[in-house]
Amino acid sequence: MDLNSPNILCKDHPDFKCREIGSLKALFTLEGKKCLVTGAAGGIGRSTAKGFAELGGDVCLVDIPSKKDALERICAEIEQAYGVKAIYALGDVSDENSMMECIQTADREFGTIDVCHSNAGIILPGDNPDIGVAEFKRVLDINLIGMMMVSRACANIMKRDGHGGSIVHTVSQSGHIVNTNWKDDFGYAYHVSKGGALHLTHAMALQYIKYGIRINSVSPGVVLSGIHDPIPVCMMRNAVEKIPIGRFGYLQDVAATVAFLATDLAAFCVGTDIIVDGGETLY
Ligand SMILES: NC(=O)c1ccc[n+]([C@@H]2O[C@H](COP(=O)([O-])OP(=O)(O)OC[C@H]3O[C@@H](n4cnc5c(N)ncnc54)[C@H](O)[C@@H]3O)[C@@H](O)[C@H]2O)c1
Repeated sequence: MDLNSPNILCKDHPDFKCREIGSLKALFTLEGKKCLVTGAAGGIGRSTAKGFAELGGDVCLVDIPSKKDALERICAEIEQAYGVKAIYALGDVSDENSMMECIQTADREFGTIDVCHSNAGIILPGDNPDIGVAEFKRVLDINLIGMMMVSRACANIMKRDGHGGSIVHTVSQSGHIVNTNWKDDFGYAYHVSKGGALHLTHAMALQYIKYGIRINSVSPGVVLSGIHDPIPVCMMRNAVEKIPIGRFGYLQDVAATVAFLATDLAAFCVGTDIIVDGGETLY
């Protein structure tokens, strides 16, 4: 819509008329798009990378060097299953040089980046009210500052190439509520990092939409991604009882939401956060 057009407010102007919908299915595609996912060796990142590939996108999976074998295996699975290009880059999103090298790998191999899922994150077992300052900063460095650096670097490539794009942040229900799911003395670092990530989504969305770059986020509740495997069954039972739908989230629940936000189905979503938690944050 060209708001500078002298005819824009003329009632005959095509941009100013109620339009019937076109094909929704046709919008649900990433055919030919170049996608980057951080934390891609983990449960949620792996599944969104697969989702992007199923929709036709080439994918670059980013994770820390110790996840090299997992990334190699996931890339091979993706290429075989979906016939797209799947590459990986090893690095630490909280280290600016390392993070930039990962983004540059994707840019060099693909020629651009159209979609980014800025997803890497950690929870420290020692995240309690007495958490040390160094540990607190470590959580913010990865979950918030790392997210910002990845998203900004991808947005700058989209801006450079002038084609717009879509960036999705992984926030959390803990960005909305003080989450006492697991223990009463759960600390502040994770909550603060995710609350910051939620508002980062809003602030960056406003900055970049003028370049056609949509930035949105997903806020999962408790999702069985593998990170809860060490938690005792009795604690898991307590946790599931708090979820109105009566089950934990599955990887597909999050991947579906990220895929929606990444495609043109979400063309009017700007700075939107979608909570995917089975109703847990309703009360
Ligand atoms: N699983 C849940 O219940 C849940 C709920 C809400 C939000 N989240 C968020 O979803 C995201 C993914 O979590 P997940 O459940 O898939 O966990 P996960 O532990 O399976 O995956 C996280 C991935 O991030 C990677 N990572 C950690 N630090 C990194 C760094 N410095 N640089 C690059 N990669 C790094 C890890 O190696 C791992 O592969 C996180 O941001 C997490 O906070 C998860």
